[in-house]
Amino acid sequence: MRELVSPTVGFSGRGHLYTEEEIAVVAAVMRETDALTQGRHQVDFERAFAAFSGAEHPFAVATCSAALDLAAMTLQLAPGDEVIAPAHTYVATVLPFARHGARVRWADIDADTRLISAATIAPLLSERTRAIIVVHLYGLTCDMDPILALAHAQGIPVIEDCAQALGACYRGKMVGTMGAFGCYSFHSHKNMTTLGEGGMLTVQSPDLAQAMPGLRHNGHRPFGHDRPHYWTPAMVDVDFPLAGVWPQNHCLGEVQCALGAKLLDRLPAMNALRRQRASRFINALNDFPELSFQAVPVDCQHVWHLLAARYDGAAGRDALLEKLAFEHGVQGVVQYYPLYRYPLFQRAGMGAADCPHTDAYYDRMISLPFQHWITEDALDYMLAALRSALDALRRG
Ligand SMILES: Cc1ncc(COP(=O)(O)O)c(C=O)c1O
Repeated sequence: MRELVSPTVGFSGRGHLYTEEEIAVVAAVMRETDALTQGRHQVDFERAFAAFSGAEHPFAVATCSAALDLAAMTLQLAPGDEVIAPAHTYVATVLPFARHGARVRWADIDADTRLISAATIAPLLSERTRAIIVVHLYGLTCDMDPILALAHAQGIPVIEDCAQALGACYRGKMVGTMGAFGCYSFHSHKNMTTLGEGGMLTVQSPDLAQAMPGLRHNGHRPFGHDRPHYWTPAMVDVDFPLAGVWPQNHCLGEVQCALGAKLLDRLPAMNALRRQRASRFINALNDFPELSFQAVPVDCQHVWHLLAARYDGAAGRDALLEKLAFEHGVQGVVQYYPLYRYPLFQRAGMGAADCPHTDAYYDRMISLPFQHWITEDALDYMLAALRSALDALRRG
């Protein structure tokens, strides 16, 4: 295999760098905080997140996978139950639902937005469907109103996977505030990262919101006030109101919560820079229609977590990647093997799908380096490299 040695523009696993002020927040918690989990920084982070997103009930959690897991647990899934989800996503979107016993039905993506839509979800609905999982992939919001209408008619919840879309809006509403649950990631690669891992869960139902601290933390809840001594019965009471649901420990530590609250101040500016750069980059490629980026509907605000495109030139996607990598040192990658092709799902009887756009997109897609800390010079270099590679491929 040819190795890409020290690329000029590399695909980074780190979304952004930290300011000295952000580093100071982390150091202060390390020096001064007593309990390093479940303390005042968790409360502050959740408050700041509520103010940022408009979500009424946010819960800081260890990862977006943990948020999805908590949402999946509340569905109280039984054998034969199904959920509908895209196959064009990172595998973590669906694992919690499969783990809790659901059969995943794969909805295709729309050819232009590259996201699932009401049109691709509707044919899969049945009396067995227990939830619809939408993914605001690459930072673009799904067309939520028709999806919510479908779910409402069926009486089932919509779970929003917002891992890649923190700060993105649909008709003036933030992602994660429209469905029954919103699940966010602060993983290393994301537009905002709490030191490599982190997540948030937002919950619409006040009843589930009341239960969530216990579900997130081993079923803990306070004993009543009539204890004769504070030391007995030992520790806290343990219970959970949903029959058959066993609580978890999905907590996020205080250092990460303090940093998350601080980062929310800078996130709008970081997202604005991503938007401005994406628009400049994409406009500068208008004369190459064989390379198409996600179509952004007028009522959606994109946060460009990734800069992904589809290459329809006759030479094929791999030829473009090869030219970029070995002639220019630009490290494009391919993302999101359609989930139904993985042995894990095939062995579990979830290998069947009717997703022609998912397959076609996977075979043609290329994702370009787009971390927040990329320099303007690197972006200009990548743009010139891409234009040169596209031009060469046109000439054959
Ligand atoms: C679309 C999507 N869903 C879920 C996840 C899982 O997030 P986490 O790593 O925080 O568990 C990720 C990212 O890693 C993702 O990109």
